[in-house]
Amino acid sequence: MICNLDSRRFSVAPMMEWTDRHCRFFHRLLTRRALIYTEMITTGAVIHGDRGRLLAHDPAEHPVALQLGGCDPKALAECARIGADFGYTEINLNVGCPSDRVQEGRFGACLMAEPALVGDCVAAMKAAVAVPVTVKCRIGIDDQDPEQALEALTAAVKQAGGDALIVHARKAWLKGLSPRENRDVPPLDYGRVHRLKAAHPGLAIVLNGGITSLAMAAGQLERVDGVMMGRTAYQEPWRLLGVDPFLFGEQEPFATPKAAAEALIPYIERELARGTRLHSITRHVLGLFRGVPGARAFRRHLATEAVKAGAGVATFRDALTLVVDMQYPLAHTAAA
Ligand SMILES: Cc1cc2nc3c(=O)[nH]c(=O)nc-3n(C[C@H](O)[C@H](O)[C@H](O)COP(=O)(O)O)c2cc1C
Repeated sequence: MICNLDSRRFSVAPMMEWTDRHCRFFHRLLTRRALIYTEMITTGAVIHGDRGRLLAHDPAEHPVALQLGGCDPKALAECARIGADFGYTEINLNVGCPSDRVQEGRFGACLMAEPALVGDCVAAMKAAVAVPVTVKCRIGIDDQDPEQALEALTAAVKQAGGDALIVHARKAWLKGLSPRENRDVPPLDYGRVHRLKAAHPGLAIVLNGGITSLAMAAGQLERVDGVMMGRTAYQEPWRLLGVDPFLFGEQEPFATPKAAAEALIPYIERELARGTRLHSITRHVLGLFRGVPGARAFRRHLATEAVKAGAGVATFRDALTLVVDMQYPLAHTAAA
């Protein structure tokens, strides 16, 4: 399945420990149009690890992009090929993660300092697959000048034939800040991303970082080709029900959050039968209701009961009886 520019209008960010296959299946119930991403998977894990488990996903998740972490063009090309064979819609290279583990491997955000190597990686991946190859980066690291650093990286990606650049619109500080602080402390600079788009009208540019409503996303779409939402999409998944109507002019997949939750039941039954624990799935659903009578009781019931060994689908059904089936007005979903 080829992902065109339009389907990059809205995406849910790759998030380690969060956007696993259960989360992605659930998000897909809430929006047919958003492009969704896996957690970052390193080339070492794909090549030497339990590939079948790491790359497994449900066909219903499509369009879904695989994010790779690595810096060796040959290994990335091999992993891109493997990912494409598994059916991923797009292969994305992580040039934004600042964790110590990633720095030791000299990939992630450190690659902002090595645009030529990023270009080699993208060229090798492009040569290996027919699906789009994209890069997710920062505006710079440490004492880099974002005007120069982001331009150099963009030029390298473009030259190598990269299909889109997703820019987390803040620097990463590699020394002194934890990965979590690196998502909040360095200031956001949307202006830098807007200037990048103006300078590269032919390259798809997606803005990421600090987008907390669909109205805000729609505002940014006047300046860039796409918007990627991370923490807000995960913590407040009810917002995703507004994506198809508000950003794509299409009907939402379900009229109410409760209807979407009910549609998850067959998946839960299937997964439980395969040995998945209930909590592994329901932990992603806790934020689905907001401003709905019973939302807190729903959360509390799942938080205490779904973690128990042997918890079954009845626990999820019971939690659902605690919330009212209520439609969110579109304006509320978009702007609240
Ligand atoms: C728990 C968590 C895990 C993350 N893991 C990844 C990752 O694997 N790859 C990546 O490129 N970014 C990762 N990020 C960063 C997000 O993709 C995104 O760039 C960042 O959260 C800023 O967007 P937001 O303000 O909309 O959340 C992670 C963020 C969070 C909160």
